[in-house]
Amino acid sequence: MEVIILPSSKEIGVLAADAIEELVRRKPGAVLGLATGSSPLPIYDELARRHDEDGLSFTQAHGFALDEYVGLPLGHHESYREVIRREFTNRMDIAAANVHGPDGTAADILAACDAYEEAIKAAGGVDLQILGVGTNGHIGFNEPGSSLASRTRIKTLQEQTRTDNARFFDSLEDVPHHVVTQGLGTIMDARHVVLVASGAGKAQAVRDFIEGPVTASCPASVLQFHPHATILVDEAAAAELTMAAQYRQTYSSKPAWQGL
Ligand code: F6R
Repeated sequence: MEVIILPSSKEIGVLAADAIEELVRRKPGAVLGLATGSSPLPIYDELARRHDEDGLSFTQAHGFALDEYVGLPLGHHESYREVIRREFTNRMDIAAANVHGPDGTAADILAACDAYEEAIKAAGGVDLQILGVGTNGHIGFNEPGSSLASRTRIKTLQEQTRTDNARFFDSLEDVPHHVVTQGLGTIMDARHVVLVASGAGKAQAVRDFIEGPVTASCPASVLQFHPHATILVDEAAAAELTMAAQYRQTYSSKPAWQGL
């Protein structure tokens, strides 16, 4: 796990975009794993800027969203398909048909989850997975207690997550109780994972998953087993890290040619 502490979410967005740009220029048909929520927004802003100003192109790229609410009507403003469309797809030149998300409206959710796993596999697997982390340590919507080997499936949100996400809805009652999410095993199959976190509200979760034990009680801790996990945090999110000085020293002496 590489931990990089940066001044703010702006620098996090730039560094994550560097890794995505390097990937897409090297492999135009790359498969990107797309997260929603507020954490990845600076990445999408920076990619959109590079698309507009530097000609960064995604015409052959593919995208797979991490998760989706169950029970929101098709086209709902806060459904993750819509968020991805708004924040990512519509701002780049990626083909809309190449961007997929789990289906939270399917009559047969179990079959839709299996089909989603198959679609990721058929596309060649995720090259770079963007992740945020919940205040309770979730990644995707794999809440504490999730199997570390889980695949795409339906989950029930904890009240802490519903409360955290109520800011996107008119009221807490409007936040769905159920979601479809890639499993921890699915996420672990990505070739490179880039987790971004900012703000003091994430400090405890960041410390727990980076420096605590690997445990289903803190789902993001499974990333300690990932061969290529990059964690980008701002100063506030890094505040509880006991080895912060080491992470800073390691990163400051990293040779530029290594990239992320
Ligand atoms: C979103 C997702 C979630 C969020 C997490 C943090 O697709 O999978 O794990 O990344 O809830 O959300 P924010 O970034 O809004 O704090």
